[in-house]
Amino acid sequence: MMEVASTGIKGLDRMLEGGIPRGYLISVIGACGTGKTTLGLHFIYEGLKKGEKCLIISFDEDENGIVKTAEGYGMDFSAHAQKLVVVRLDAEEVKRKVEGFEDHLRRIFEDMKPSRVLIDPLTILETLFDDAGRYSFLSNIRTVVKSIGATAIITGESSIENPSNSKFGIMEYISDGLIVLKRYRENELDEAILSIEIIKMRRVGHQRKPRPFTISGRGIEVFEESELI
Ligand SMILES: Nc1ncnc2c1ncn2[C@@H]1O[C@H](COP(=O)(O)OP(=O)(O)OP(=O)(O)O)[C@@H](O)[C@H]1O
Ligand SMILES: [Mg+2]
Repeated sequence: MMEVASTGIKGLDRMLEGGIPRGYLISVIGACGTGKTTLGLHFIYEGLKKGEKCLIISFDEDENGIVKTAEGYGMDFSAHAQKLVVVRLDAEEVKRKVEGFEDHLRRIFEDMKPSRVLIDPLTILETLFDDAGRYSFLSNIRTVVKSIGATAIITGESSIENPSNSKFGIMEYISDGLIVLKRYRENELDEAILSIEIIKMRRVGHQRKPRPFTISGRGIEVFEESELI
C-alpha cells in the first residue's frame, strides 16, 4: 500500500482511493474562480492539523491575505503558525533575476524540508519563460520537490481552447497527477455548476468521472457519488 496524504476534502479523498500518494507532485488546473486556491488551502490545512511542516509559495496573496481567505473557510491557520511558512513572490521581481531564482527556491525547500508544498498559481511563473525555459524550469521544480520527499500541489490556469489542459501544456507532463476543475452551465442564465475530475494519478485506481462540487463557507465539498447533471 502506498502511503497517502489526505487532501482534507473527504469526497476527493474517496475519488483518489485515500488521498495523494506521498511524494507526488500534482497539478490542479482550472479557469479563474474554479477553486484552485481553495483546494490547495484544504491540502495545506490538513497537513497543519497533522503537525506537518507546510510551505506555501504564493504569487497571489501575501501571508495575511492567505490566512484571511482560509479563515473564511473555517480554517484556522494562525493556530499552526510555527509549522507554516508562506513565501510571497512577485513575478516581476523574479523576472529581473531568473537565474538566482531557482537557487533561491531550492534553498527555501532545503532549509525548511516541508512535508507539504503549495505553489499558487504557477502559471504566473510560466509566463516568464519561453517553451524550452519553461520545461527546464518546471523540471527543476520537480527535482527539488522530489529530492526533499515533499507532497506538492501546483496550480495553474487552464487553456482557453482546451480546459482540460494547462495554459502552456507542460505542468501536466511533469506532474504525477492532474486534477481539473471546470465550470459548466446548460443555459446562460443558469447558475454555474462546478466539476472536479482526476485526469491522471500515477499508480492509483482513481475515479475517472467528473463529479460536482461546491464552494461555501466550509470550503470545497465534493459529491463523489453524484452525477454532474
Ligand atoms: N464563502 C463562500 N461561499 C460561496 N462561495 C465562495 C465562498 N468563498 C469563495 N467562494 C467561491 O470560490 C471562488 C474562489 O475560489 P478560488 O479562489 O479557490 O478559485 P481560484 O481557482 O483559485 O481562482 P483564481 O484563478 O482567481 O486564483 C469565489 O470566486 C467564489 O465563487
Ligand atoms: Mg487562486
